[in-house]
Amino acid sequence: MTGPIVVGIETSCDETGVGIVSGTKLLAHQVASSMDDHVAFGGVIPEIAARAHVTEFLPVLNAALDEAQLDLADIDAIAVTAGPGLAGALMVGVAGAKALAVATGKPLYGINHLIAHIGVGYLDDVAADLGNSSQLGALLVSGGHTEMLKINSLTSDVELLGSTIDDAAGEAYDKVARLIGAGYPGGPAIDKMAKEGDPQAFRFPRGLSAPKNMGTPETPGKDRYNWSFSGLKTAVSRAVEQYHLRDLPVPANDIAASFQEAVADVITKKTVLAASEHGIDHILLGGGVAANSRLRQLLTERTHAAGIGLTIPPLNLCTDNGAMVAALGAQLVADGVSPSDLQFSADPTQHV
Ligand code: KG4
Ligand code: ZN
Repeated sequence: MTGPIVVGIETSCDETGVGIVSGTKLLAHQVASSMDDHVAFGGVIPEIAARAHVTEFLPVLNAALDEAQLDLADIDAIAVTAGPGLAGALMVGVAGAKALAVATGKPLYGINHLIAHIGVGYLDDVAADLGNSSQLGALLVSGGHTEMLKINSLTSDVELLGSTIDDAAGEAYDKVARLIGAGYPGGPAIDKMAKEGDPQAFRFPRGLSAPKNMGTPETPGKDRYNWSFSGLKTAVSRAVEQYHLRDLPVPANDIAASFQEAVADVITKKTVLAASEHGIDHILLGGGVAANSRLRQLLTERTHAAGIGLTIPPLNLCTDNGAMVAALGAQLVADGVSPSDLQFSADPTQHV
């Protein structure tokens, strides 16, 4: 074993995840998702997600212990996502983790989900890919968040450079997919349709990109590194409406490709700008939207052109999971950070 053995528990949305690490070595990574139960509703239903966590918590924990060939008695510490996320879903993980902490007498760390996404970068395989970066940044894009972060210290100083002021990128994918009848979850469906469409067919807006939003490097506008996807969604809705009004078939593939181009363009442009202006020489990508083919391609091109390194971890470590929570927990233990007071609660709106 290479360090403290930490169990990480993640229940902030629809994934029940349990990961186990020893220092920076990943020993187990188990996830159960309730996504199939949400598909019919076209979105994650918080109560269904919470109930699924209650059912899955112990089976996933036991599967992780089996995978690591460990007993609870071998564990040095427990880490759990305290927020942000769905309140009921988070509470299941927090309550379960507290029960484990009391039963085993081990310290418990309530941690921030966004910082945990970055924790993945410290696992051996991923860390090797970070090279000799001197200033790490992270871009998190999922159904719940769109954030650009500067990591001064993983355990004590993570700075928020920019974020969405309305919908998360994945949420925009899901809403646009509904508008063009692409199904749910929208990201993979649009990604596939876009391959058959023309990304230049429609010029959809790149939110918060006007000079008044951007300002200059000397006097940056307040939204220089922020995103907005609600205007883009409205523009897609208007385009679709025009075809309906004229009783014409909706060019869904062209709309999908043009929408995807707008999202990837504005995300990557602002990410590279924020990185360049903050001395960030390496970016770690996280979140379910990291699966998007155009985002990956454009981010690779644009970071390369700017001389910035890019690490895209394996997709099952980009989407929500317990390994990332365990990875951050192990760093907290290694840095001598005090465990949480057992009185802490779930914090659905927690920020970085
Ligand atoms: O990280 P994740 O699994 O869950 C959270 O939202 O926390 O991310 C799910 C999101 C969904 O909005 C889904 O539509 C999006 O990631 N997504 C994608 C793709 N695959 C998943 N978005 C764009 N392109 C994809 N290929
Ligand atoms: Zn997440």
